[in-house]
Amino acid sequence: MDTLIIKDINNKTMQTAGEIIRGGGVVAFPTETVYGLGASAYDDAAVKKIYEAKGRPSDNPLIVHVADVCDVETVAREIPWNAKKILESFAPGPFTIILKKKDGISDTVTAGLDTVGIRIPSHPVAREFIRACGVPIAAPSANLSGKPSPTRAEHVIHDMLGRIDAIICGGDASVGVESTIIDLTADVPTILRPGGITLEDLKKVCTNVEVDRHVLEAVAAAEQPKCPGMKYKHYAPDADVTVVEGELSACEKKIKELVKREKEGGKTVGVLAAADADFGADLFISSGKDNREFARVLFDALRSFDKNGIQTVLVQLSSNDEYSLAVKNRLYKSAGNKIIFV
Ligand code: TXA
Ligand code: MG
Repeated sequence: MDTLIIKDINNKTMQTAGEIIRGGGVVAFPTETVYGLGASAYDDAAVKKIYEAKGRPSDNPLIVHVADVCDVETVAREIPWNAKKILESFAPGPFTIILKKKDGISDTVTAGLDTVGIRIPSHPVAREFIRACGVPIAAPSANLSGKPSPTRAEHVIHDMLGRIDAIICGGDASVGVESTIIDLTADVPTILRPGGITLEDLKKVCTNVEVDRHVLEAVAAAEQPKCPGMKYKHYAPDADVTVVEGELSACEKKIKELVKREKEGGKTVGVLAAADADFGADLFISSGKDNREFARVLFDALRSFDKNGIQTVLVQLSSNDEYSLAVKNRLYKSAGNKIIFV
């Protein structure tokens, strides 16, 4: 299949993308979190093409994207008061709300569930694209299933060229990890996946917010080393990832030790850490000054290690802030729970 690469964002090219969607095609588009792989949420056959292009298991539901708050009611059966409050405070932005779904949204989108994830991205190109489509857009992240989510157009081209109809190139994602998923189908709003809208943000508008235990399950699994981490492996580069977590100097010491050991074993070694403490790695990538920056560079860094033939990646996790939960959640999964606490 020929994939149309759209680099010029203007009314005409967005109309072209909209026509492709209305004709049952699949188009990748930029958002502030990660790139998405979109099709009409009303078109079962088109949505099936998304699962095929990604190699995604069909029991994993997709998020439905709309351009404006007023469009939420075209997807959700009812909008509870806490959803209204969250939308008022944060939309458009890097979060997804789970609500009861309306008829007409394809069962293929929701994997047969009675609920649906709804997201209003803030990225101007995403909103222009969705408006040009004129239908709600079902879209997962635009990576091959299991691989790190794409935060730059080149990542999407790498994974999806020849597999989908078009790719809209819209620069680098500013958040860098996928949206915060908030389940609003029960009384207490629950974070199912941490992201750009943090627990602290949500606590400012909801009296009670919970974090689903699966977000932290990686920790529990890490505490029982016998538990095979493989079943949690996502966001996984080809390289073998290990997270080293704890106080800065202890982490640096441990990572230096591990770099030496791995290199003696003949491996090429990459390090992702706040600052290069003479680790002696073949490739060092800075994770930035805080976890917000870490989130922004994380997936690109994992892909860069692969591109450079790195076999072992060591990641330092030393700082704690509002964004820690989002960064940790992704890192634990990409490491398949190989976590060393120092
Ligand atoms: O930032 C994002 O959310 C990006 C951009 C493209 O918007 N999308 C994204 O989609 O990350 P995806 O498919 O990679 O991740 C969606 C997650 C999956 O883990 C899926 O299981 C969950 O959302 N999900 C979707 N619908 C759900 C539902 N009704 N109930 C519970 N979880 C749901
Ligand atoms: Mg994904």
